[in-house]
Amino acid sequence: MAHKVTLVPGDGIGPEVTQQVVRILEATGVKFEWERYAAGAEAFEIYGEYIPTALYESIERNKVALKGPVTTPVGGGFKSINVTLRKKFDLFANFRPIKNLPGLATHWPGVDLIIVRENTEGEYVGLEHEVVPGVVESIKVITEKGSTRIAKFAFDYARKHGRKKIHSIHKANIMKMSDGLFLRCARQVSEKFPEIFYGEHIIDNTCMQLVMNPYQYDTLLLENLYGDIVSDLCAGLVGGLGLVPGANLGHECAIFEAVHGSAPDIAGKDIANPTALLQSAVLMLLHLDETAAAGKVQAAIEKVYSERKTLTRDVGGSAGTTQFADAILAAIG
Ligand code: NAI
Repeated sequence: MAHKVTLVPGDGIGPEVTQQVVRILEATGVKFEWERYAAGAEAFEIYGEYIPTALYESIERNKVALKGPVTTPVGGGFKSINVTLRKKFDLFANFRPIKNLPGLATHWPGVDLIIVRENTEGEYVGLEHEVVPGVVESIKVITEKGSTRIAKFAFDYARKHGRKKIHSIHKANIMKMSDGLFLRCARQVSEKFPEIFYGEHIIDNTCMQLVMNPYQYDTLLLENLYGDIVSDLCAGLVGGLGLVPGANLGHECAIFEAVHGSAPDIAGKDIANPTALLQSAVLMLLHLDETAAAGKVQAAIEKVYSERKTLTRDVGGSAGTTQFADAILAAIG
């Protein structure tokens, strides 16, 4: 039976990388029925809505989506499509594994980190207003429910996958109430997992520690904004944004997307690295219980990186997006 999956190619480099990832997924032998939708500025031109109602309905039906990046206007314009979808489907856990690929020389080899980012609260609730001209208030929302469930997600994942340590990353020295609540909830959850070390580090120190010695961490538990920033920093540790996958997970639905954005600086040139979305698709295959296919794609990625012959330019190669995907297809056989 085919898996029905909602597909949002996105914009910028989104359509280029999505097209290649779909080609690769279809070569695994797993059957997919894609329901394809535009989102963002492109969707507004077609449907007069930034997120078409049919897209919402498709995700509601299928429960699984694969999504390319969507551009969000800076300092005005429409609300982030990504944030809106995460909120709408209550995809509270943003899961981002950070791992080196073979054959890619980076400052720190053998990095193996898990980022668990709260995905629905914090500064991203979009509550901003002008109090008087020249004064703007932006409201950060942290709740006991939201903090406890993301901490529980992190500890459950750690227990299931034999991870040894979780650090909550915070700024509770300054944001005493909001980050203080986040920490209290994480501490409470940690008591039920005595086999997992629990620690707390302040966000600014953590950034320095990560670039000086990433091996001291295992799983990082963060609020929304801190998780967003630290994800990009950690992507830099293993070779850049072209590589790092992500999953937005809720109790009902899941949207799989790379950490990176629409990369307008390289869009339309067939040079973007599709690895990040491809590794997100591997997470999707695991979610769909297609373990063999997930293993096949991951092994092909590792083979192509080990050989170092057909890599994209962000990781030191000269291949284009399509050429890289061709090499993955050849490795799948
Ligand atoms: P970005 O992640 O798009 O790009 C940052 C840098 O990384 C650029 O130099 C870009 O060329 C490079 N890069 C990113 N992905 C790459 C890939 N696959 N292969 C090779 N190089 C890659 O971040 P930026 O420029 O801050 O954001 C651009 C737009 O994307 C913004 O409108 C932002 O709101 C949106 N965005 C969307 C996300 C999503 O849809 N999930 C996530 C992050 C940003």
